[in-house]
Amino acid sequence: MHAAVVTRFGEPGVFELTELPDPVPGPGQISIDVSHAAVGLIDVFIRQGLYKERAGLPQPPYVPGLEVAGTIRALGDGVEGFRVGEPVVTLSGTGAEGGYASVEVVPAALTAGLEGTGVDPAVAAAAVPNAATAYLALTGVAHLQPGERVLVHGALGGLASAFPGVARTLGAAGVVGTVRRSSLAAAQASALPYDEIVVGEDLVEAVGEQRFDVVVDPVGGRLRTDSLQVMAPMGRMLLVGNAGGDWEHTVPTNTLWGANLALLGFAVGFYLPAHPELVRPAVQGAVDAIRQGLVDIRTETLPLAEAAEAHRRLENGSVGGRVLLAP
Ligand SMILES: NC(=O)c1ccc[n+]([C@@H]2O[C@H](COP(=O)([O-])OP(=O)(O)OC[C@H]3O[C@@H](n4cnc5c(N)ncnc54)[C@H](OP(=O)(O)O)[C@@H]3O)[C@@H](O)[C@H]2O)c1
Repeated sequence: MHAAVVTRFGEPGVFELTELPDPVPGPGQISIDVSHAAVGLIDVFIRQGLYKERAGLPQPPYVPGLEVAGTIRALGDGVEGFRVGEPVVTLSGTGAEGGYASVEVVPAALTAGLEGTGVDPAVAAAAVPNAATAYLALTGVAHLQPGERVLVHGALGGLASAFPGVARTLGAAGVVGTVRRSSLAAAQASALPYDEIVVGEDLVEAVGEQRFDVVVDPVGGRLRTDSLQVMAPMGRMLLVGNAGGDWEHTVPTNTLWGANLALLGFAVGFYLPAHPELVRPAVQGAVDAIRQGLVDIRTETLPLAEAAEAHRRLENGSVGGRVLLAP
């Protein structure tokens, strides 16, 4: 198989396009002929070495790629409920043998069939894992209730853009997004189901009297602290990433009890493998939102040989949608 291998932690130039033996699925696993692998900021952080001490994450040389669509190539022992040739999507794991390759082996428990859904493979890789994450975070972590109001930071980002649609299907009364000033025009042109998009730097003034029951924060830094001022009593903030790169940022915890607020961390890749029973409802929640046209994300597909270029674009923050690799 062809694979884009991270040969060492470092700059995007550490990728090497390599031929490797085709992997064979073991018990409980399936192999997939990959059609699309989505490139996420988490792939960039891992390649940069930011998580090199974290148990369970790959060490070089490894093949990145956590979100993959394709068709089933072979079934390992004991796998039931799938057939060879079936279109599938994999949900985020944390393994070392990822999807920047023409063939990938994954746990069957973290894979979902797409037959009959009408979701095309590029959209599946780009949106199903993130929309499934949004479904799990909004239902099982933030406990979003019908009629509540949601604020989503980095509104056009790969993960963030899945939240407004899923929140709508769960009965949210309103969804506001924030973006950097440089992304405002693109955000206003987007078909994502936000009621309003404001500039994150101006958050407090821009939302005026509006208060939010759930804040979704994949960006971090000052925006995270500013959000405390616009949360409703008993508001919950989902901490789901750090796209802004301010790793030293801290939140004043005394503000939380005084204002009746909660901060909730959620990382799907470290949660789902221990709770595979949640894969099916999460994917169903994702597919419902996608079929209703509520997760309308822009995608661009590059050849596998351009994995380094895909990573450079994410590092520059110049994507505004999702970049996919096709082997
Ligand atoms: N918790 C989980 O389970 C989970 C799952 C997937 C991803 N994540 C995390 O979520 C975060 C976003 O990942 P992603 O793949 O969605 O990334 P992405 O597609 O690159 O989106 C990141 C968004 O953050 C915004 N942003 C604000 N300040 C930024 C800055 N200084 N540099 C770059 N972007 C900035 C940008 O939005 P604007 O330009 O519109 O402002 C951009 O659209 C990452 O930290 C990732 O690790 C977490």
